[in-house]
Amino acid sequence: MLTAQHKHEISRRRTFAIISHPDAGKTTITEKILYQGQVIREAGEVKGKAGTKAATSDWMEMEKERGVSISSSVMQFDFLGHRINLLDTPGHKDFGEDTYRTLMAADSAAMLIDAAKGVEAQTRKLYDVCKLRTMPIFTFANKMDREGKDPLELIDDVENTLGIKCVPVTWPFGMGDRFRGIYHLIEKALYLYKPDSEVPEIIPLEDWSSPIIKEHAPDEYVLNKFIEDMQLLEGVVGEFDEEEFLKGKLTPMTFGSAKNNWGVDVFLKLFSQWAPPPQARETIQGELISPDSNMFSGFVFKIQANMDKKHRDRVAFLRICSGRFERGMKVHHPRLGRELRLAYANQFLAQDRDTVDEAFAGDIVGLVDTGNFQISDTITGGAKFEYGELPRFSPELFAGLSIKDPLKKKQLQKGVVQLSEEGTIQVFYDPIVGEQEPIIGVVGALQFDVLLHRLQVEYNLDVKLQRLPFSVARWPKKEGKLYDGELQGASRIFKDKKGQQVVLLDKEWDVGWLEKENPDLEFASTSF
Ligand code: G4P
Repeated sequence: MLTAQHKHEISRRRTFAIISHPDAGKTTITEKILYQGQVIREAGEVKGKAGTKAATSDWMEMEKERGVSISSSVMQFDFLGHRINLLDTPGHKDFGEDTYRTLMAADSAAMLIDAAKGVEAQTRKLYDVCKLRTMPIFTFANKMDREGKDPLELIDDVENTLGIKCVPVTWPFGMGDRFRGIYHLIEKALYLYKPDSEVPEIIPLEDWSSPIIKEHAPDEYVLNKFIEDMQLLEGVVGEFDEEEFLKGKLTPMTFGSAKNNWGVDVFLKLFSQWAPPPQARETIQGELISPDSNMFSGFVFKIQANMDKKHRDRVAFLRICSGRFERGMKVHHPRLGRELRLAYANQFLAQDRDTVDEAFAGDIVGLVDTGNFQISDTITGGAKFEYGELPRFSPELFAGLSIKDPLKKKQLQKGVVQLSEEGTIQVFYDPIVGEQEPIIGVVGALQFDVLLHRLQVEYNLDVKLQRLPFSVARWPKKEGKLYDGELQGASRIFKDKKGQQVVLLDKEWDVGWLEKENPDLEFASTSF
């Protein structure tokens, strides 16, 4: 039974992820957010910690060598009365698929863009995933301490590239060397940042036309540009509408410089004011499970094997959707149709593990797993409902696998199936050839390296990879549902691991041809 205190704990949860293109400043802003949340005492600690621990596993060894972050972690801190869970997503473009699934476990996202570059390719892809879930999104235009695009142009870019309404909540006062701060349009206050300080001077104003603004302008140009922009904004940009934001149709935008810790405080305040608490989720049985239901439930969105080589363990990351988790609790595993005891769970901060005794809807816990969990598994406090499959996203690189020793083919098949259940790769089969020769699909080449490495280390298999020419997977759908009937004009039809038909194509352009040949069908880039 949930007490009033438990319900309060759930209502103060805010779970989000940052989406961005590599180099936009995600690591930098994450550090500054954790610093503001008092999780770390000094900027640089996050990188440092991951670095020190890196030697504990081969994956992290690869990560260190390549300077990329393969594993996601979850960071928890309190801010203005909220308990915030920040889901870190792998920064390297090669690990997009993991990032996609992490977004399934978040309730909102912050889109970080480099003000000089605008919306870049990777951000766009990640945004599309957020859109699938109609997820509320904040936008932070970073690197205002450098000369970048005109802020109005940035807004235009977000609106046109992503098809979402973009409403500035703050406006930059200068840019590059002349960046002095931001004007908060809702609070009607000027936040002034100084080069040697992270704490802003906040000056309340009657509105943007206040003569006080002039006193803080570095020169005429900055002042005139600010006034000109504000006049323009009044005419062209609408008001912030919370309802539209919660439906994922409008993104509030704020400006700053993560490196200098300017504007990160304003972003966090906006976040804690508007980010939604955990929402009800629908089960495949059609029930709507409220986060403060008495029934504990959650789903696995990520499995990380080999986190610590000494223990050779796997960790299943569980997003708690309802109720309260307790260490040692007995749960029901609907896919396996049996009970399990969750003896040991962790929360993570940059690869450090803390044992968790209690957690609530909105939280993420890492369950030490001996092979009971797959991506998308639901677990509950006893009920038989399931949250259903997480979507699979179209891979962009495909390959076949071969092994010299024919006696090891069965072992290879087993390894491939297990690794696909962990979400390391996707696997497709040619119905004529059968399961003997799986086709592997990944979003980025690094996943291939991890696959070969793990087949070698964990299964003792020396496997060769032959790249295939496909670059697109499309799931045929009719009236919104996956379609297994006849297809016209598709030369290569495969099955995914669920046995659903999927078309693999050499290039995106070929999708148009399929659509023309099958006018009553839709060819989706996710299996959702
Ligand atoms: P990522 O995780 O999104 O890939 O980006 P990351 O934070 O690593 O930042 C990428 C580069 O952008 C870093 O520079 C970082 O210092 C810089 N950066 C981040 N935020 C800002 C900002 O607000 N203003 C400016 N001017 N630069 C910013 P680097 O040269 O790669 O590394 P470093 O030596 O500066 O650490």
